[in-house]
Amino acid sequence: MAPRQAVRHPVFARLWSKAIGPALEKAGIAEHRRRLLAGLTGEVVEIGAGNGLNFAHYPPEVTRVLAVEPEPDLRALAEQAALTASVPVEVVAGRAERIPAAEESFDAAVVCLTLCSIPNQHAALTELWRVLRPGGELRFFEHVQAESPRMRRVQRAVDATFWPLLAGGCRTGRDTRSAIEAAGFTITELDAFAFPETRVPSPSTPHILGTAVR
Ligand SMILES: C[S@@+](CC[C@H](N)C(=O)[O-])C[C@H]1O[C@@H](n2cnc3c(N)ncnc32)[C@H](O)[C@@H]1O
Repeated sequence: MAPRQAVRHPVFARLWSKAIGPALEKAGIAEHRRRLLAGLTGEVVEIGAGNGLNFAHYPPEVTRVLAVEPEPDLRALAEQAALTASVPVEVVAGRAERIPAAEESFDAAVVCLTLCSIPNQHAALTELWRVLRPGGELRFFEHVQAESPRMRRVQRAVDATFWPLLAGGCRTGRDTRSAIEAAGFTITELDAFAFPETRVPSPSTPHILGTAVR
């Protein structure tokens, strides 16, 4: 059965736009957003654009961004952010499992803290492959499965209980790197690091940022 188009998480949308997003900005996430998008050119699709926090960081060589966001409250905020974006951004409804775009229509695709929340990661990555031109880049910045067995146990515990309920369906323990490769992409750049760097790590502290090629 085809996935429903809308994703409704009004409480998470408010939390993200008023509390979590600003807290991550304060912790220095803007530098990672800038690294994620550096060097992009041409036409780009961003999946799960949220309230549009990446829009200010696109380099001027990007000629168009199609920003796909299924959650209506976040999408409305993204539409506002698009008005002052550094490059032309069109915000549309839609979800990763069925991207509203023709095949091989983009030079690059961006996923940023999104693959953790998409129910079917493989379907999303297969769609990203479909809409990218051959040789196109998938840029990713995601929190992922921990290296240490101890933190993996914590991730399994929170994912099975409260975390997805509070965080709009997000799961902390996903092996997103393997999922990207299983969809056929070749990872050409990968940085694995802790963010934010706090004394006591959270289940969402381990991150990867990189590039994969179709
Ligand atoms: C943690 S927020 C990140 C927002 C934004 N990418 C950013 O970096 O600020 C996760 C985003 O994934 C979106 N999302 C959840 N399920 C999705 C799906 N099936 N397809 C596309 N986006 C989805 C949410 O609506 C939300 O905007």
